[in-house]
Amino acid sequence: MAHADALTEHLAWWGLRRFGSDCDYFRWQRESIPAADLVELTRLAEAKRAVPADPAAERAFYDFAARSHVLPSLYSQRYDYYLAVGPLVDDRIGPSSAVLDFGCGVGILTTFYASRYPAKSFVGVDRSEASIAVATAHAANLGLSNVRFLRLDIEEESPAGEYDLIIATHALVQAEQEPGLPSRDWTTFERARDAAAQAGFEQRTGVGARLDGLRSVLAPQGRMLIFEKTRQLARRVPFQRALASRGLGLLEPPVPVRYQLVEEIAEDGPLYHAGLRSPAAVPWDEQPERSHGEELHRCRGGLAQAIYDRLPDRAVAGTFELRDQLTGRLAVEWGSAGGGLRYLATGSGVEGHEHAIVTWPQQGESGMVARLLTELEHAQRDTEKVRSLLQALWSQPVEAADPAHVPLYENRSPAAQEAWAALPSRQVARHATLRGPDGRLTHLELGRAPGVSYFYLANNFDQRQLVVMDRQRASLLDEYYDELVTEARSSGATRVPTP
Ligand SMILES: C[S@@+](CC[C@H](N)C(=O)[O-])C[C@H]1O[C@@H](n2cnc3c(N)ncnc32)[C@H](O)[C@@H]1O
Repeated sequence: MAHADALTEHLAWWGLRRFGSDCDYFRWQRESIPAADLVELTRLAEAKRAVPADPAAERAFYDFAARSHVLPSLYSQRYDYYLAVGPLVDDRIGPSSAVLDFGCGVGILTTFYASRYPAKSFVGVDRSEASIAVATAHAANLGLSNVRFLRLDIEEESPAGEYDLIIATHALVQAEQEPGLPSRDWTTFERARDAAAQAGFEQRTGVGARLDGLRSVLAPQGRMLIFEKTRQLARRVPFQRALASRGLGLLEPPVPVRYQLVEEIAEDGPLYHAGLRSPAAVPWDEQPERSHGEELHRCRGGLAQAIYDRLPDRAVAGTFELRDQLTGRLAVEWGSAGGGLRYLATGSGVEGHEHAIVTWPQQGESGMVARLLTELEHAQRDTEKVRSLLQALWSQPVEAADPAHVPLYENRSPAAQEAWAALPSRQVARHATLRGPDGRLTHLELGRAPGVSYFYLANNFDQRQLVVMDRQRASLLDEYYDELVTEARSSGATRVPTP
């Protein structure tokens, strides 16, 4: 059976259900868990989130979660997580014969792996006594003789033996409130190599002691499959450094994972496949995750028209007309504007039919837009190619906004830093760098580039925002700047010199 089908069957056996909406899920939760227990569960979940982590609170939560009337409902929240992570791990169990699943919980995934590989031996460890009791009973009911479960806290003792594969999924870094380590300052995504800060992160999250415990039972050529909530760069960097400092090297590039958490999308992981004595062919990447087209600002309809009408010093570089099935013809225009912006606009010329525009900073042409412009500027254009590139460009969601406030360009991704740095003849009008009570450094800046005004925000936890407006609406940026400075001050932030 294909592993996705096998996993679905396995989850059903555990009593787990998949829900498409929060509403359906919570109705089932209310039906299956008595009200008093739900109150207790919420209290325990809150206590588990404390920073620094409280092992007793964590254990109490997982013991409660293992109760027979709580387990199916609570663990169903993780249904899509299991579907995302289970097969990724399953595919990589490979030649290993002795597998340890650290923080196995009630053993939902451990029993799945064990049933997939009857010739390999699996050990699941967890410090929640009730979870281990449930895991043991369920493994027996499944008739699995190649899996054992042990109650132990890896920070206090290690399981006997040696393992050539250790799986740790959602078990090494549970401290969800832990922000991680800041970058050197707001101008960069780089983290200093600060031994004390690293030790602090490892201690607060418990990841250091857990990794040391696991490392001591990992065979000399052993591998680890690790999946934690470390997608944010501030958590990812110290986590990766914790792995690297224990001799682990990547065996393949980390695999980013997205899955549904009832109604919300979780961006999690990535899945790390690491090993001792890895040939170190895959470097540890400490830069922010980038996505295709992140430098583009895309708008449709009234917003697109508002941007087009306000682009200062608009200089048309070319136009093209495409036959469109719906409207007969689609006009495409591209060119440049003040502030070093470039644009590509489409419109059918038919009233009521949507206009669309994409703007981007001059020096940051993405693959997609670069290909489109090359095609448009080609003497013998391939119309079909232009059509499909335009379609791809608009396949991305477009944020709704008020046409009166829509910026000529806005970027909240890491690409905002490059776009800000590339603003031509940038002149700073006002700026403030503020240190929050938690040490967070935020830089706010208002300035001008030819024909435009801009607002820039950058902090040392990788947040970036660049907003470019025509001069007529520069006061909107002033208001935004003042609002943020006032807000920061009222929450205790103080001004520090700008580097
Ligand atoms: C979110 S559950 C993850 C369960 C499972 N690995 C999965 O992927 O669904 C985290 C588990 O890690 C266990 N855990 C956390 N710290 C531990 C430690 N120091 N020693 C043993 N188990 C630990 C908790 O008790 C809990 O059952």
